Amino acid sequence: MVNDLPLTGHLEANHIPVEPFSSLPRLRISPHGLPYIQLPAPCEEYCLTNYLATPEGVQHDAETEAQILRDTPVSKTLATFLSGGTVTVDSVKQSIEKYQQERIGWCMPVIRLTAEAQADPMPALLGVTLLKRATHAEGGKQYRQIRQREDEGKSDREVGWSISCWLHPAHQGKGITTAAYRYCIKEWFLPYIYTYPGQLRSGFLAVNTASEAFQKKLGFKTVAKSYWLVETRMNNGLEVGDDKEKWKSGCGLWQGFNGEYPIRKEDSDYRHFDDWD
Ligand SMILES: CC(C)(COP(=O)(O)OP(=O)(O)OC[C@H]1O[C@@H](n2cnc3c(N)ncnc32)[C@H](O)[C@@H]1OP(=O)(O)O)[C@@H](O)C(=O)NCCC(=O)NCCS
Repeated sequence: MVNDLPLTGHLEANHIPVEPFSSLPRLRISPHGLPYIQLPAPCEEYCLTNYLATPEGVQHDAETEAQILRDTPVSKTLATFLSGGTVTVDSVKQSIEKYQQERIGWCMPVIRLTAEAQADPMPALLGVTLLKRATHAEGGKQYRQIRQREDEGKSDREVGWSISCWLHPAHQGKGITTAAYRYCIKEWFLPYIYTYPGQLRSGFLAVNTASEAFQKKLGFKTVAKSYWLVETRMNNGLEVGDDKEKWKSGCGLWQGFNGEYPIRKEDSDYRHFDDWD
């Protein structure tokens, strides 16, 4: 599947930093110029790509992403989008453009079908596996303001990172998201970013037991609970209602695929949070 077009030009054209991405194992370029990484067996039907680079491509990805986030059970599960209000094509488009311009994370976060990525100039987006500088589960407005100040001017290796993912329901339960994160953590986060235990963390709605199970399988351990999302929603004038438990978040710390990087809540950014009950 490797074609003989120069890799460097394709990465630059797709706004992917050339290094270290040009040396990632399994990276290929489609005849239409889309860099993609085929997931290992048994998930080889799926691949990782970036968001499409052209304005038409961004629009195409934003429309699909907004539709999945709005119209499927996925919408009920996501803590991150909920704090920002309603999902629209424009709001998703803005997030994609921000992600592309700021280069704030792992650059191949989109799941597509491998065959489509190889053959179609506009392959469908099926899900995302973001891995980026931490933006959630930060424990409320005041805490996040402090963190933002702390983060200013710091390198990727100094700050906390977090995962955030969803997949179209028709493709869930096949191990795809696990395979995607195993790849980008092993091939990119560990060699190029990872500096200290507890640097990689996760947040999820506490009622989302599937997400917690997924994260546990990947190597995260739930160490704390937080009502930061309740506070965020109230600050944004969004409905919370009487059921604050609905918006309670779980906070996870990555311990390594096999527990090789243990970290306790007391030694992490979550040390001020209440205990998990
Ligand atoms: C969470 C999500 C991204 C997982 O993607 P996926 O590709 O289906 O996950 P995998 O097939 O790799 O599953 C890995 C593990 O997650 C857990 N898991 C996944 N779906 C589950 C479900 N519906 N119920 C319970 N556990 C589930 C299981 O432990 C599974 O391992 P197993 O198959 O050995 O039992 C996907 O279910 C999703 O998009 N959910 C809706 C959005 C969401 O909750 N995102 C997370 C917000 S933090």
